[in-house]
Amino acid sequence: MDNNSITTKDVTFKVFRFNSDTDYLPTYKEYKMEVTSEEVVLDILDRIKWDIDGSFSYRRSCRHGICGACAIQVNGKATLACKMNLHELTNIFGTELTIEPQSTKHAVKDMIIDKSDFWEKHAKVHPYLNSHIEENPDTECIVTPEEAERILEADLCIQCGACHYACPVTQINDQFIGPAAFVKAYRFEADVRDESHKERLEEISLPDQGVWDCVKCFECAEACPKDINPIEKITKLHQMVFQENVHKNPVAERHAVGFAHSIKKHGLLDEGELVRYSEGNIGVLKHVPVAIKMFKKGKIILPWNMPKSDKLDEIQKLVKSSSTTKY
Ligand code: SF4
Ligand code: SF4
Ligand code: FES
Repeated sequence: MDNNSITTKDVTFKVFRFNSDTDYLPTYKEYKMEVTSEEVVLDILDRIKWDIDGSFSYRRSCRHGICGACAIQVNGKATLACKMNLHELTNIFGTELTIEPQSTKHAVKDMIIDKSDFWEKHAKVHPYLNSHIEENPDTECIVTPEEAERILEADLCIQCGACHYACPVTQINDQFIGPAAFVKAYRFEADVRDESHKERLEEISLPDQGVWDCVKCFECAEACPKDINPIEKITKLHQMVFQENVHKNPVAERHAVGFAHSIKKHGLLDEGELVRYSEGNIGVLKHVPVAIKMFKKGKIILPWNMPKSDKLDEIQKLVKSSSTTKY
């Protein structure tokens, strides 16, 4: 790059400092620096450590966005420190930037967090190819380009943890397996050579920990520095759970089935019927007081009065052509 095209900006960094061995609470230290248009966040972490305070701690390894070690947050945005240009960040947030670890709850020392919960969830989904391969096979095990294509995106996951620590469900439910491990589960579920489909799908569809507890907020897709889109993989896992017939029939799953039936039958959402599908005939009784209030306000229609969409034919054709799952 031509040196004349390099510009500079004065930036104030508020950096999370914490040592779990000695501190009860974290502090935020302020560092003012002149930052060039070529520098990434990792350059600033290096400058703090090398020029100002040698005790400052953070993780890094490859410096090329492939090891996932340097994932942190800048102004609450999941960031790979070695890839994120600082001038780009100041264009979004201005010249005062707060640098924090991925999860302050798991902080050990400054930017370093204890990722053991992440790796435990990862191990839970059997993150490996389970295949009985003959030692001396007569033929190759051919995977077609189309079959390989299905796993390519998920295979690019660098285990940085950005999606895991951005996920609101992971933060409040310690059992929830989380988006990164679901991506890994999908990676092997979609692999034609794998022979553990049912076992893995059973694990990831259990109540409280599995794919049905995802609230579809898309935070994981927003956080991922590799554009892997974990929520899309979770949706594919939902379909696989049905296709392999391993579902345990939790509320969220029955809700999905009720939703599909209502749209197929009426072209519209029948809210009352949806509750009956989700909760069952007995479970629905506890919702009667609310249902009466909703009925009075015209928000629920009695089943025999449920109208049909005037585009029902078209909607049914769309449902048929887009459905990959038989309930
Ligand atoms: S979409 Fe699901 S997995 Fe992704 S962050 Fe939201 S709740 Fe978590
Ligand atoms: S899916 Fe994306 S954000 Fe999540 S661990 Fe993998 S690379 Fe990181
Ligand atoms: S140092 Fe490896 S991804 Fe940043």
